[in-house]
Amino acid sequence: MSTLDFSTTLGNAWFPTPTFTASGCASSGRELAQFFDLASIGGVVTKSIMSKARSGRPTPRMAETPSGMLNSIGLQGPGLDAFLAKDIPYLVEQKARIIVSIAGETVEEYSTLARKLRAVSGISALEVNISCPNVENRGLVFACDPEASRRVIDGVRRTIGGELPIIAKLSPDVTDLVSIARGVVDAGADALALINTVLGMVINLDTMRPHLGGKTGGLSGPAIRPIAVRAVYQVHAAMPQVPILAMGGISNGRDALEMIAAGASGVSIGTASFGNPMAIIAVQDELKALLTAKGFNSLRQAIGYAHRPESE
Ligand code: SIN
Repeated sequence: MSTLDFSTTLGNAWFPTPTFTASGCASSGRELAQFFDLASIGGVVTKSIMSKARSGRPTPRMAETPSGMLNSIGLQGPGLDAFLAKDIPYLVEQKARIIVSIAGETVEEYSTLARKLRAVSGISALEVNISCPNVENRGLVFACDPEASRRVIDGVRRTIGGELPIIAKLSPDVTDLVSIARGVVDAGADALALINTVLGMVINLDTMRPHLGGKTGGLSGPAIRPIAVRAVYQVHAAMPQVPILAMGGISNGRDALEMIAAGASGVSIGTASFGNPMAIIAVQDELKALLTAKGFNSLRQAIGYAHRPESE
């Protein structure tokens, strides 16, 4: 029997396994609960929630691409009040560990969401998804603007106090990811989620126009995995003490181990769940078997292994 310690931490939140859903790919977990016990994975990262109900971008919202897919959902969701009334009680009843993802159009909206979530019990951590357009600054995405990123995280940290861990979700669509990461950590983020989707576009050759209703969309799936591995590696090299939740094209245990070796403390599985709702369970089992086969006694020993000198 394996004696591997598979647990991990993100800030002061402890999880028995390092495998999570990826925000946006499983809503609040209901669909996946038909296939496996939500309490058996590290945790459910919810779809990013905004203050008000939102219908999202026009259709079509998805496009298949080689080794990936583009989505342009536009943060469709029920709004915070409905989410608190329906989704949190459901997840608590399932005994799932919950990471609530929040998104806003203004710095103030993030703080308002944090204020309302501060008093909610059963939440392990907040994912602050700053890959959204800032309506106060010509629609520039917060995560592509170091000062706006810092202000969002600073506002959320001041609002929720010191207890609940903040995981800042960053966009890879920047020139210097490490400096954005440093800025949000200095502003109070305990951990980082790397990476959000990569901005892309598909032209429909029948209409000779952009295929997606929103024109651009976020590329996910195996096509972006090397970008995610690079991002995790670079940020871990600069800030090895900051836990990273890695996502971007993980669909088996080997992909997950690559992220762990690059410096991730946990992994999220998103796009792979669309083809196989049990993908997260397969990743979990395969990662555990791989760590054991390689002689690790704990997940922790493998985190950032790729940074060690060859001689070790
Ligand atoms: C969406 O709902 O459009 C996706 C949001 C995101 O990628 O953060």
